[in-house]
Amino acid sequence: MSSSPNPNLPNNVSLSTIGNRFASSGVFIEAADRRVEIFTESVSFDRILYEADIRGSLAHAKMLRDTGILTESEYSQIEGGLLDIRRQIESGEFEYHVEFEDIHMHIERALILKIGDTGRKLHTARSRNDQVVTDLRIWIREAINRIDHRLVDLQSAFIGRCDNDFDVIVPAYTHLQRAQPVLVPHIWLAYCEKFERDRQRLKDCRRRVNVLGLGAAAVAGTSLPIDRFKTAEYLGFETVAANSIDISSDRDFVLESAFCLAQIALHCSTFAEEWVIWSTSEFNFLRSPQSFCTGSSIMPQKVNPDVLELIRGKTARVIGNLQTLLVLTKGLPLAYNRDLQEDKQPIFDSFNTIESVLALAAPLIEGAVLNREAIAFQLDRGYLDATTLMEYLIGKGVPQRTAHSIVGRLVRLAMEREVPLAKLTLKEFQEAHKDFDYNVFSVLGAKNAVASMKSYGSTAPDQVRKQIEIWKTKIDRAYTEF
Ligand code: ARG
Repeated sequence: MSSSPNPNLPNNVSLSTIGNRFASSGVFIEAADRRVEIFTESVSFDRILYEADIRGSLAHAKMLRDTGILTESEYSQIEGGLLDIRRQIESGEFEYHVEFEDIHMHIERALILKIGDTGRKLHTARSRNDQVVTDLRIWIREAINRIDHRLVDLQSAFIGRCDNDFDVIVPAYTHLQRAQPVLVPHIWLAYCEKFERDRQRLKDCRRRVNVLGLGAAAVAGTSLPIDRFKTAEYLGFETVAANSIDISSDRDFVLESAFCLAQIALHCSTFAEEWVIWSTSEFNFLRSPQSFCTGSSIMPQKVNPDVLELIRGKTARVIGNLQTLLVLTKGLPLAYNRDLQEDKQPIFDSFNTIESVLALAAPLIEGAVLNREAIAFQLDRGYLDATTLMEYLIGKGVPQRTAHSIVGRLVRLAMEREVPLAKLTLKEFQEAHKDFDYNVFSVLGAKNAVASMKSYGSTAPDQVRKQIEIWKTKIDRAYTEF
């Protein structure tokens, strides 16, 4: 067996002289073109399905035994062989060869080499079409569980900051212009809500992933007396797909997962972008932990928020992967088409990328430090209390549109005088509207404006406090459920 270095081949997959067309029927009289083997192989990237593939094969073989298609002794030979192959793969002894195309063929061939003719029975009532879709569903199901766990870690990192940051008030921005003052934990909770919807979306998607494909065979099912419900039970699938044509070919579950991941990436990107802005000298609201920053090779003073930038940057490839999958599946007729082999790299990449993003985001959130002085210094600027001032007038029975223009005039007056609204005199307020009284000062200033909030879901301190407690319970419960 000789391995030749070939630039078109990924690491660890060798070109050998073992001989190709494993499992060829008698139809072929010509050997496959080597260039075709290299072009069509997928083992270089679908190897990571090995564990799912072996699990699927073990369940399939067990079902074949239960239904009398395999004898007990044939089943135990197959089981022993597959377990041994799993051990070889995990210890790095297993060899990959481009001519055996994909991980499914590799494992089956290794089984035949190991246990002889009985190994040739494993593929009974099965095709790679239903095999690959089953493997992918097993893999995605577990990857979703991992992402779900990471999302809770991220929420937990935000909630972990809330008590300490509770009294910090920052300007909230709309149109990236200073809008109204809010409690910092109100922002942290905003992210928790987003990542909660991401969790729910994944959970819902998982139901549609968790469907058994095996037994659909190539497209039409099989004339052999199999029991697909048994296989589903062995593999922990919630349901058995009711149509062999559909399940052997549709990749909607891959696309749906890719979208869920793209949405997570977008939420992470919003957070990262916000924190990049907060980290500028102009804002100076926040410092990432130094261990999460890098310097510049030419400007000695620089401390760059690279991790945040890359969290934002990696969103591009996750969105790109979704786009790839959408285009890949457009225009495919029923049922399985080889194009579908191209679904793997994008979806694996999206899962891996999001996992690494979430793994880094959580400690970064935990370790970041708010610059309370810089934030406080900024709060008096921008008339953040103008809206609560307007609502004060509305409370006195003034129509909203009228109150809006009265406060607009007061803001203009304060701007001309270069003072905050709280520095205007009671006389000036009363000249603007007769109903102003001394209580007006109790809604002015960022702290008073926040304290005067009342509505459910607002930044009112008691509302935020309640939400923090709800979130703490939710997160504790999530961890106990894992
Ligand atoms: N490597 C293939 C894939 O990922 C497996 C299925 C191939 N099926 C076939 N009939 N050639 O889609």
